[in-house]
Amino acid sequence: MKKTTYKFSNSSVDYYFDNSFSNLKNIADKKTSIVITDENVFHDHQNKFQGWKTIVVKAGEKYKVQFTADLIISQLIQLEADRKTTLIGVGGGVITDLVGYVASVYLRGINFGFVPTSLLAMVDASIGGKNGIDVAIYKNLVGSIRQPSFLLYDTSFLKTLPDDEWENGFAEIIKHASIKDASMFKELETNSIETYQKNKKLLADLVKRNAILKTKVVQKDEFEKGDRKLLNFGHTIGHALENLNQLSHGRAISIGMTHASIISEKLTGFKDAKRITKLLLQYDLPTFTDFDKQKVFEVLKMDKKRERKEINFVLLQKIGKARIKTIPLKQLEKIIREL
Ligand SMILES: NC(=O)c1ccc[n+]([C@@H]2O[C@H](COP(=O)([O-])OP(=O)(O)OC[C@H]3O[C@@H](n4cnc5c(N)ncnc54)[C@H](O)[C@@H]3O)[C@@H](O)[C@H]2O)c1
Ligand SMILES: [Zn+2]
Repeated sequence: MKKTTYKFSNSSVDYYFDNSFSNLKNIADKKTSIVITDENVFHDHQNKFQGWKTIVVKAGEKYKVQFTADLIISQLIQLEADRKTTLIGVGGGVITDLVGYVASVYLRGINFGFVPTSLLAMVDASIGGKNGIDVAIYKNLVGSIRQPSFLLYDTSFLKTLPDDEWENGFAEIIKHASIKDASMFKELETNSIETYQKNKKLLADLVKRNAILKTKVVQKDEFEKGDRKLLNFGHTIGHALENLNQLSHGRAISIGMTHASIISEKLTGFKDAKRITKLLLQYDLPTFTDFDKQKVFEVLKMDKKRERKEINFVLLQKIGKARIKTIPLKQLEKIIREL
């Protein structure tokens, strides 16, 4: 079976692109593996799980918490999981984050792999080894960096993915194109969510291209000292809006990217903010929205990306090329007021 192996600092990950879930048995041993999924994925794809020991957890970000990790751990004990066991997370980013986390701490770390089933998990969440859980209001507060041993891609899972979740995935895809891949940006400009939904090959290629793009960024900078920070494009203002306005992640970062592009025009001479907003709208994502600027700024001040009296902000120089700029908080406050 065709696989591509990517090396990270102390492990390597086998990627099985454009593949089928039915091949999972050729990658992981049914006897020593335990599949972990959520209720929605299990409900929509029940037949796929036949013959696999499966733990099903409740779906949604609300359940990406220690309590669910504890539930999984007690089932692992019941199933007599040991150091030879492989955990396989089959689901969206909540499941991959959670399973990566449990696999990192159970018996001080056991083998794990992923079958991402949401577009967002395929192009983003399952890649890069970050895993973890939320604690109270703090997202991803507890976790570790540890790579899965394999990623199996089966885009036919996406047939049951709800519409809103497509938007979340495309927000990250547009982010990738904006910061790293001008030719993918052009491809996106000639398509829409519908054209990708209708064309299996086009979709599988897009997923693969994005997965490789993120993988290469992480490979260069696994522990987020430089280039990996570019993946935060749109996420600084986006995260603040996600919390304040109760928006989905994709919608929030779409608005975040809109404003980051406008700030880029002011600070780097970027000229294509209009092209960014046009593309976001084309993928059913929001661009401008009224928000309480003072409140957003207050949240930004507390952001984990803050270093002393300044904030690291990802700006575009041109489409496909981004850089980090350190902006003093005072200047950022003024810029946000003027947005
Ligand atoms: N580790 C990372 O680097 C990283 C990067 C980005 C996001 N994340 C995390 O990923 C999470 C978001 O991921 P997500 O958007 O996939 O969320 P999710 O896992 O909650 O999935 C979204 C919804 O879609 C459902 N779903 C998933 N696949 C389906 C399918 N094939 N058919 C039907 N329903 C399906 C899920 O049950 C859920 O209701 C967040 O917790 C975020 O913090 C992590
Ligand atoms: Zn994101």
